[in-house]
Amino acid sequence: MKTFYIETFGCQMNAHDSEKVVGTLLEQGYRQVETPAEAELVLYNTCSIRDKAEQKVFSRLQQFKREAGKGKTFGVLGCVAQQEGERIFERAPHVSLVAGSASYARLPEMLVQLESGDKRVTGLSFDRDEAFETPHTRRDNPHRAYITIIEGCDKSCAYCVVPFTRGPERSRTSQSVIREVEQLARAGYTEVQLLGQNVNSYRDPSPAGWNFATLLERAGQVPGIRRVRFTTSHPRDFGRDIVDAIDRNETLCDHVHLPVQSGSSEVLKRMDRLYTRGEYMRRIEWLKGTRRDIAITTDIIVGFPGETESDFAETLDLVREVEYDSMFIFKYSTRPNTAALQYPDHIPDEEKTRRLMVLQEQQRVIQLRKNAQYIGRKQQVHVEGYNQATGQWIGRTSQNKTLNFTHSAIAAPGDGRTLVGEYLDVLVTRAGPNSLAGEQAA
Ligand code: 5AD
Ligand code: SF4
Repeated sequence: MKTFYIETFGCQMNAHDSEKVVGTLLEQGYRQVETPAEAELVLYNTCSIRDKAEQKVFSRLQQFKREAGKGKTFGVLGCVAQQEGERIFERAPHVSLVAGSASYARLPEMLVQLESGDKRVTGLSFDRDEAFETPHTRRDNPHRAYITIIEGCDKSCAYCVVPFTRGPERSRTSQSVIREVEQLARAGYTEVQLLGQNVNSYRDPSPAGWNFATLLERAGQVPGIRRVRFTTSHPRDFGRDIVDAIDRNETLCDHVHLPVQSGSSEVLKRMDRLYTRGEYMRRIEWLKGTRRDIAITTDIIVGFPGETESDFAETLDLVREVEYDSMFIFKYSTRPNTAALQYPDHIPDEEKTRRLMVLQEQQRVIQLRKNAQYIGRKQQVHVEGYNQATGQWIGRTSQNKTLNFTHSAIAAPGDGRTLVGEYLDVLVTRAGPNSLAGEQAA
């Protein structure tokens, strides 16, 4: 039996792609192993969103270079594969397979080519008619499942490689999405996460013609499904109907990830984000105006070319105004093919680092204050695991916050007893900037 190892970098789209790749390989008679040393086929599913992410794969490939040829085959999948294409064969000559995400349906074919000794196998074209049916997905988590509803991206943010690595936007039919949610519910999954680079730009290609809000609502109504999440939303396409759908449906989680990138309308314009600070803030007001306690999280880029001290001050100000529950902060990183590459006034790295740290510190204080508001309140968690070191169960609230807790009856997993997969009410007793802690409430 042939063996394979796969390591995944990057976003949830990539993590889910890997689940599809693993499913396909198992179907083709391969067996998954835990280390590259044991594997005949070593795969890296890569990310190229920032330069650091891209470097990772090349350093991984260096590690095992000497083993190439000794019965080991190397493949680069995902965004770096799509972006760099056949140049990867030059940079890392021991690689035999380079394939982007739009080509995974052809994986069985590509494996046959590899097995017959072909040293330059590629899957790099974007096929608009790509079928989304992925019958052989091997999901990593038995309770929460990812579902791709839209692939690619038609926006052209000046800093972003995604339109080049994942191609044009293609939505899946609503029937196919709902069928998958139903199958997952029957298989015992209670939580689903709808995925897309711009998940809310979803547009049903079938005659039903659902928009994202309708799909979200219907997914939440599938019997057996207790939680629906979605990521990532683009503010421009984030309509009031999405907020109303969340407000109406208990199963839609109290969490929206709405990347703002900058608090300065001037910078947003140069980023080509298609919204102003004011338009973004209107969406925040909608979310805050619901009956629900919706957590809002975001992504911010500091040091975009030409970002002045006063632009950055506007970002700090917006962040104080929104009071995000959590955020990812990135230093701007120049990417191939993108418009911003040609922009003047690139910011020195030390200055990017300084801005990142200032923003991080401001946000840490906000998160501590926000999380402290949960102390003394009961929160429902979906139990995800157990932390041996701390003796606590790990749960996640609807707001997507980690809530570590102790349980009076089941102190630890054992004797076939576990809380993983259950929904429990937990009393929050402590709060840190990044998580909550509590005790299961009888
Ligand atoms: N440099 C830094 N951060 C970036 N992101 C996307 N492209 C870049 C880049 N070139 C960030 C954005 C996006 C997140 C996934 O990554 O904030 O929302
Ligand atoms: Fe990385 Fe973007 Fe590709 Fe996801 S889509 S793996 S974040 S480059």
